[in-house]
Formats: sequence, structure tokens, C-alpha cells
Amino acid sequence: MALDEKTYGELREIAGRYPEARSGLLPMLHLVQSAEGRVTPEGIQACAEILEITPAEVSGVATFYTMYKRRPVGDYHVGVCTNTLCAVMGGDEIFSRLKEHLDVGNDETTEDGTITLEHVECNAACDYAPVVMVNWEFMDNQTPESAVALVDDLRAGKEVTSTRGPRLCTWREAERVLAGFPDGRVHEGPAAGGPSLVGLGIATERGWAAPEGASGSRGTDLSGPPADVAAATDTSQESEAAAVEEEAPTATTAAEKKEAQ
Ligand code: FES
Repeated sequence: MALDEKTYGELREIAGRYPEARSGLLPMLHLVQSAEGRVTPEGIQACAEILEITPAEVSGVATFYTMYKRRPVGDYHVGVCTNTLCAVMGGDEIFSRLKEHLDVGNDETTEDGTITLEHVECNAACDYAPVVMVNWEFMDNQTPESAVALVDDLRAGKEVTSTRGPRLCTWREAERVLAGFPDGRVHEGPAAGGPSLVGLGIATERGWAAPEGASGSRGTDLSGPPADVAAATDTSQESEAAAVEEEAPTATTAAEKKEAQ
């Protein structure tokens, strides 16, 4: 399928968001994936022309990051975290059960085109291990059974919500959001889940703070900017110093110094 005029227009719009147009390449590639289901040669060419760089440069970026796909992705990209913590908590078992259940290997898509299965690296959600991601939305604390039920529901076309709240959209829709075109679902679900805040809660309850003078430490007072930032932005101190200087100018030349003695 050829890129349509609307997509070309949106690619130019993304490039125009940045002082250096080439900074827009990553979201532009997401938009190409949204329109074509993968990074196609035509998509690479379009990005190169708009950004006035070579197709090889675009290709170098697209093949470096694993979020860019050269093969078509199904309606739902299901990523199973198999990094250390998730793996020992059951991630390896989930991945192996899904491979068998869906009859696909790593980075392969089911025959009906609904699910692409991939083992993914740590998603910084280790406190919810083992985690599965669907189009980059979290499904926390999974088991082989819950993961099988999840993909069955997705294949059956049921509405599924992430364990953190948002309704799951298709992979192409998610790619459009990553390109910088919001889908209005940003407020669905909490910003930080309970397990991520347990440590802070315990510290606050017990009055714990990092030792005084620890590098970059703010203790438990998170109500304002860090001291070094506050000092750097506190213009009142600078104005006070300027006022004092005005009232009592210091001698700067040899003659003035002599006179002052
Ligand atoms: S190891 Fe799976 S999210 Fe960190």
C-alpha cells in the first residue's frame, strides 16, 4: 500500500516540530509503521526526502532500534519480558506457553494476522514481574494461564484493558500515538502503580531520609525543586547582592585603593 497524501502531510508536520528537522526521524518512522504496518522502503524514502538525508541514514536508524519492524506486525504486538527478574518469576514459562499456544516462534505473527509474539527486554516494570506488554501497554503480574486468556480475548476481538487501566488499541493505533498524535486515552489509568510507590510510602511513614550531604540527595522532601536547582534559579539572592554592591562600592583602581587607606 502506497503512502497517501495525508501521511506525507503528517510526516512534514512532524519534521516541522523540531528546530533541526532530522530530530523528527523517530516519530516519523512510527508514523510510517502506523500507516503501513512496518517500515517500508517507500517510508524510508519519504523520510529521507523530507529530512534531506540519505535513505541509508534513515535505514541505519530503523534497523538500530527494535521498536521499528521490517516485517508486518499483527493487530497486537505481544511482548513477553524475559529479562532476569521476569524470567525467574515466570516470564520464560509464559513465553514458551504462548509460542506453543499460538504456534509461532519469536518475532512471528499468527496466521490470522492478529498476534505478533516477541520476547522483549526489561520494561522497567520489574516490581510487577512477570510482565507482558500489548502494544506497549502493561499487563502486570502475569501467569501462563492469564497470558493465554489474554491472547485468546484479543484474537476473539473482545475489548481488553491493561492491568493499569487503559483500553488496548491496535498496534497501528499505538504507533500513531508514538508519532505524536494523541488518541485521547492518556488519562486512562494511574500514572504510577502501588508497587512502584511502596518504598516511598514506607520511608515517608517512618520519617526516613537520605543522609545529609549525600550527593544529589533531597531526603523525603519532594515538595519543591532540589536545593541546587532552587539556588541556581533564585534571582532574589542575586538582586540582594547587587543592591549591597550599589550601596558600598569597592575600590578597584590603585589610586582608589590608596585613597581608601
Ligand atoms: S525484568 Fe521484566 S520488567 Fe524488568
